[in-house]
Amino acid sequence: MGKTAFISAVLLTSPALGEVALSDADQSRLEHLVVQDCGSCHGLRLTGGLGRPITREALEGHTLEGLQAIILDGIPGTAMPPWRPLLTEDEAAWIAAYLLEVRG
Ligand code: HEC
Repeated sequence: MGKTAFISAVLLTSPALGEVALSDADQSRLEHLVVQDCGSCHGLRLTGGLGRPITREALEGHTLEGLQAIILDGIPGTAMPPWRPLLTEDEAAWIAAYLLEVRG
C-alpha cells in the first residue's frame, strides 16, 4: 500500500479524528511544508536543530491527537509556534500521522 493510502488508513482508524480527506496535491504540499518549515527548526531530516528531533523514534509515546494539538497550538513559552493560522485541523492530523507513521 502506498504512503498516502497508509496515512489515510491510520487516520480512518482513529475515531477521534473521523474521516480526513485530503487531495494528493494537498498531501504533497504538506509533505513539502514538513521538510521546509518544520525542517528549518527540527532539521531537514527532522533529527533535531533548534527544536528537538521529531522522528518517529523521538515521538514514541505521543498520540496522534497529542501531536495534532502541539502542531496547532505550538508549545507556549518555547520557539515552537502555533500553526493554526496556516493549517486546518485535518492538515495538522495528517502531519501528525506522517510524523508518527511515515518518517523514519
Ligand atoms: C521556529 C522554530 C520551529 C518551527 C518552525 C517548528 N518547530 Fe516544532 N518545536 C520547536 C522547539 C524549539 C520545540 C521544543 C520546545 C520545548 O522546549 O519543549 C519544538 C517541539 C515540537 C514538538 C514536540 C516534540 C516532543 O518531543 O515533545 C513537535 C511534535 C513539533 N515541534 C512539531 C513541529 C512541526 C510538525 C512543525 C511544522 C509544522 C514544527 N514543529 C515547526 C521549534 C519549531
